[in-house]
Amino acid sequence: MTERTCLSIVLAAGEGTRMRSAKPKVLHEVAGLSMVGHVLRAVAAAGGTAAAVVVGPDRDDVAAEARRVKADATIHVQTERLGTAHAVLHAEADIARGFDDVIVAFGDTPLVTPQTFGLLRAALASGAAVAVLGFEAADPLGYGRLVMEGGSLAAIVEEKEASEAQRAITLCNGGLMALAGGTALALLKRIGKANAKGEYYLTDAVALARADGLATAVVLAPEAEVRGVNDRVQLAEVEAIAQGRLRETAMRGGVTMVAPETVFLAFDTVLGRDVTLEPHVVFGPGVTIADDVTIRAYSHLAGCVVDQGAILGPFARIRPKSRIGAKVHIGNFVEVNRTTIAAKAEANHLAYLGDATIGEGTNIGAGTITCNFDGADKHPTIIGRDVFVGSNSTLVAPLAIGDEVLIAAGSTITLDARDGALVFGRAKQAGLPGRGAEMIRANKARRAARKAREQGKG
Ligand code: UD1
Ligand code: MG
Repeated sequence: MTERTCLSIVLAAGEGTRMRSAKPKVLHEVAGLSMVGHVLRAVAAAGGTAAAVVVGPDRDDVAAEARRVKADATIHVQTERLGTAHAVLHAEADIARGFDDVIVAFGDTPLVTPQTFGLLRAALASGAAVAVLGFEAADPLGYGRLVMEGGSLAAIVEEKEASEAQRAITLCNGGLMALAGGTALALLKRIGKANAKGEYYLTDAVALARADGLATAVVLAPEAEVRGVNDRVQLAEVEAIAQGRLRETAMRGGVTMVAPETVFLAFDTVLGRDVTLEPHVVFGPGVTIADDVTIRAYSHLAGCVVDQGAILGPFARIRPKSRIGAKVHIGNFVEVNRTTIAAKAEANHLAYLGDATIGEGTNIGAGTITCNFDGADKHPTIIGRDVFVGSNSTLVAPLAIGDEVLIAAGSTITLDARDGALVFGRAKQAGLPGRGAEMIRANKARRAARKAREQGKG
């Protein structure tokens, strides 16, 4: 089975008008990845070695996203939308390269799993010329109906062509199909458009195969899996299903979630064993969390690696290109951006660490800010090991602070500091004995006088 070659053709030429969006439908995201990206990943995971994507005219953005996810995907522009078979035939040159299996998938149907694509391929491996993904529809309206004869699939009849008896069939076409490479082109090219919509229906491949005496097969999937997205309500429904799957996989893999329904994962979130996620933790794409990490409530992470035993949050924000070392503590209202923090360092309260490198065991005091941006460019801040950065320090980058440096609280640091130094960057304190009490009492007296005046008027 694995040695069979496979081309997947992803149809993504739909306009998606019901999304009411400036963005093409298939670029809308589910769990942090475009819908077309999900489809390309799933077919690749099912052994799809090659991919062709059919896009609408002037859709460089869809083409670029397809290539981002699968670099060698071929792109075909369908200028006129004349039906699903017409769309598939845009990839004729790819089909003609000769693959054992040809999978047709829809770019707006992102929940089909690699396992299901695998079952379609298995049906081809067992001799089917056409394998269709079917499901039992709660409401079959609008779907192609699977017409079975003697236990095998005889035809797919689209809603508009269906007789009353056929409309009563609840076994429906999920839209996806797999075709044996050897006969695919011959079948596709014979599909005509003499039907109610005047479109080239991919589904006609079934009856044509039967007429040639070729075998057809149906693979069954749960309805949730074949769910397509036409508007933003359906997008949210699909997101909920995707999140449910990701949470379940995480928990089965050894992650504790106190309130899983409040945790939002990305398609590629990697979570180690004995990770604890408190409520309302949100993951953007590209996060890898090692074992024994605790992420406390209301934290947001994206594009970062967190090493074993770190504790983040509550209310921590870890932004892309960051690495949080083992046993590091990041506390509330700390933002970490393009920053590497070595093991056992701590930033427990109210800090911004951007473009920084922080050494092992260093303590970043409350209110510390790396001033990484000068209005035009970003600059690095390098802090050594076992440094103590006093509270409310302003570190103006570019800056290099050695090991075991102590920065006095309230400092504005603009000059590098050598290993072991104590540095102050604040105005020298002055004091006038008795003057504070004098001023406080004077203020009190002024307030009292004002109140008396106002009462006199009223
Ligand atoms: C299709 C199936 C139907 C199935 C349903 C499941 C056909 C003829 N019918 O109907 O049996 O129950 O899906 O959702 O295949 N597309 C293009 N170019 C085209 C036409 C379509 O790229 O010229 C793309 C669309 O963007 C979409 C997909 O193909 O992603 C399916 O097209 P759509 O018009 O939604 O087909 P349905 O009428 O829903
Ligand atoms: Mg549709």
